[in-house]
Amino acid sequence: TVIDWNPIAAEKAGYKHFMQKEIFEQPRAIVDTLRSVLDVNREVLRFSDLNLDASLVHKLRKVFLVACGTSYHACLVGKYLLEGLCRIPVEVDLASEFRYRKPLLDDQSLLIVVSQSGETADTRAALKEGLERGAHCRAIVNVVGSSLARMAHGVLYTHAGPEIGVASTKAFTTQVVAFYLLALHWARTSGTISDPEFSEHLRELLALPRKLEEVLDRADVLRDWAREFLKVEHFLYLGRGILYPIALEGALKLKEISYIHAEGYAAGEMKHGPIALIDENMPVVVLAQKGELYEKMLSNVQEVRARGGRVLAIVEGEQDPRLGESTWQFPVPETSPWLAPVVFSIPLQLLAYHVADLRGTDVDQPRNLAKSVTVE
Ligand code: G6P
Repeated sequence: TVIDWNPIAAEKAGYKHFMQKEIFEQPRAIVDTLRSVLDVNREVLRFSDLNLDASLVHKLRKVFLVACGTSYHACLVGKYLLEGLCRIPVEVDLASEFRYRKPLLDDQSLLIVVSQSGETADTRAALKEGLERGAHCRAIVNVVGSSLARMAHGVLYTHAGPEIGVASTKAFTTQVVAFYLLALHWARTSGTISDPEFSEHLRELLALPRKLEEVLDRADVLRDWAREFLKVEHFLYLGRGILYPIALEGALKLKEISYIHAEGYAAGEMKHGPIALIDENMPVVVLAQKGELYEKMLSNVQEVRARGGRVLAIVEGEQDPRLGESTWQFPVPETSPWLAPVVFSIPLQLLAYHVADLRGTDVDQPRNLAKSVTVE
């Protein structure tokens, strides 16, 4: 007998698409990223290739985070983490903009470029700009030995493993975790968090993979959502605070692979424009994180529902009747506010994936897009 063996199918390990496989690999990818720097027993973080010692940390006055696409969204989360935990000013730029705006960099500036591939042309040009202007330059990349890794003065590797699907998933969440690890290390070095706080952060991080498993176990629910919303032409995503970048990323995922027009917005900005678009044909995905901004988000949900809009809420903890009876609710496990970006990303990736799959698009290789854009 001849065994029919298809090497591509074998690599997909039983999943229909690489993207789906990569979504499910995230708990493992995050464990690997943690393991690469964390000595659990001694509660120390070691960044062997990063080249960022305490004397440099004390000298720095400003941080610039620069990237393209999904990696840019990781930088937006990185800003919340670094400013929030280390109390240092952070600017975030798209690589294609940064290099042309004559950035004010000097030897008290740290430029961190972020990239899955390490080969994106605009990001390479941005790094070159930083090197020429005398900034301290580091890279957070996934591909070992890639151009950015070689050009920068130091590198922090994400350990997502090879990412084949054009739409980035596990590279993104490991970038966010890398930023978190870096921010914790920096905050401890500069004394902006105490040792007990540091330990608490580590505990939250170590609990993260298990929480992602819990979300992935309920992936079928998102397929049901996808079936219901398959035919719409526009989607709006709303987030606040550290989840605002996740609203942008959720919208980007849907655009990239399903070809549905989607926009991410800071929920507080809804009244300054997008509210004009709301009707039953434009579902609104709401990222409802518990905490100080939760009540505000409930008001946004009211505003949408009052205009006949349909709401899909990713809600932290239990389902909440205050979100409205007709609201579709997907609960995710509670987590530290700093890690909510990772937890909330998973259902948005799954929603985009299932909408695209049900619409029959080429999920792993969407039209007009490339995994790595090496031309400017
Ligand atoms: C392309 C890919 C995106 C990716 C972006 C940046 O547009 O399709 O998924 O986010 O490039 O890529 P990088 O490798 O630099 O993270």
